[in-house]
Amino acid sequence: MKVTMFGTQPYDRETFDRVGRDYGFGMVYHKSHLNADSAVLAEGSDAVCIFVNDEADAAAIARLSNLGVRLIALRCAGFNNVDLRAAARFAIPVVRVPAYSPHAVAEHAVALLLALNRKIHRAYWRTRDGNFSLHGLLGYDLWGKTAGIVGTGRIARCLIRILLGFGMRVLAYDPCPDAALAASEGFDYVPLDELYARSDVISLHCPLNDSTRYMIGDVAIAQMKPGVVLINTGRGQLIHTEALIDGLKEGRIGAAGLDVYEEEAAYFYEDTSDRIMDDDVLARLLSFHNVIVTSHQGFFTREALDNIARTTLDNLREFAEGRPLTNRVLLEA
Ligand code: NAI
Repeated sequence: MKVTMFGTQPYDRETFDRVGRDYGFGMVYHKSHLNADSAVLAEGSDAVCIFVNDEADAAAIARLSNLGVRLIALRCAGFNNVDLRAAARFAIPVVRVPAYSPHAVAEHAVALLLALNRKIHRAYWRTRDGNFSLHGLLGYDLWGKTAGIVGTGRIARCLIRILLGFGMRVLAYDPCPDAALAASEGFDYVPLDELYARSDVISLHCPLNDSTRYMIGDVAIAQMKPGVVLINTGRGQLIHTEALIDGLKEGRIGAAGLDVYEEEAAYFYEDTSDRIMDDDVLARLLSFHNVIVTSHQGFFTREALDNIARTTLDNLREFAEGRPLTNRVLLEA
C-alpha cells in the first residue's frame, strides 16, 4: 500500500522509517501541508497521512477522492481540520491516534504554568546577562490555589493528578462528567461560569468544535478572577486571541501559556526567523513578558512520537487488510 504523508518534518520521517520497517508500506514524505492545491501530491496513493495543520476540507477531499485515495489517516488526536461530512460523502474513512501520550501534553501544560508563575523564562535570560536581581520575578505558591480544568478526557486526567499532587484544589467542567473519577481523584465538577469565577489557573483540554470555538472571549474573560493564568494546549480557536490580548493589557489575565494559536498554520513548525512577522496579533502576543508561546509541541516527546507512528501504521494495516478500523472517526464524534 502506498501512503503519502503531508506536513512532515525530519523527525516524522525518522520515526516512521524506524517504527515502520516491518509494516512494508511505501511511504512518501512531503513537507507541504495538505490542501486542495497540494492534494495532487497524493496521486497513486491509497492513503494520505496528515497532521494538525493540514487542511482536509471538502475541496481537498474531493481532489483526493478523484486521485483514488481511499483513507485519511490522522497522525494526531484532534480531527477538527477534517471535513467529516465530505469524507463520508466520498466514502473515505478517517482514522486517528486517539491517545499516544496524554502525559506528554499534560506535562507540557505544567511546564508552561510553572515557567509563567515563577518567571523562569525571564530569569533564564537575566542570569545569562549577569543580572541576578529578583525584581519582577515574584511568583506564588500553587499549593492551596484552585485550578479549573475544561474537559476531563485523557490529557486532563493526567494533568489533574499532577495538580492535585501540587496540593491544588481542582474544579472541572465537562458536558459528560465522570462522577466516579471525580470522587476517586478528589476534584469537583462545577458549571463553567463557576469554574471561571473561582480558578486561579485555567487549562483547556476540550476538543475544538462548533460549541467550543472561541469559548474564551470577552464574556468568559470578564467572569474570570483578575490575574488568572490561562493555559491552552488544546486548539488555538478555543480562545479569541484579540479578547485575550485585551485581557492581558487590562491585567485581567495574569499570564498566558499557549501551545496553540488560532492562526498557527502559517508559522508553527517553521523557522521564520529571517522574515518580518506579518501577523500583528501573534506579534502582539509575543511582546508580552507574561505570555509564553510554544509551537504546538505538547505532543513532542520520544514516547509520543513512537506511539503516534505505531498506532498510525496499525491503523493503515487494518485498512490494508480490510479489517474493522479500531480508531475510525465517526461522523457524530
Ligand atoms: P479526549 O477526547 O480524551 O477528551 C476531551 C474531553 O473534552 C472529553 O471528556 C469531552 O467530553 C470533553 N468535552 C467535549 N466538549 C466539551 C466542552 N464543550 N466543554 C468542556 N469539555 C468538553 O481528548 P484528549 O486526548 O484529552 O485531548 C484534548 C484535546 O487536546 C484534543 O481535542 C486536542 O485538540 C488537544 N491536543 C493537543 C495536543 C498538543 O500537542 N498540544 C496533542 C494532543 C491533543
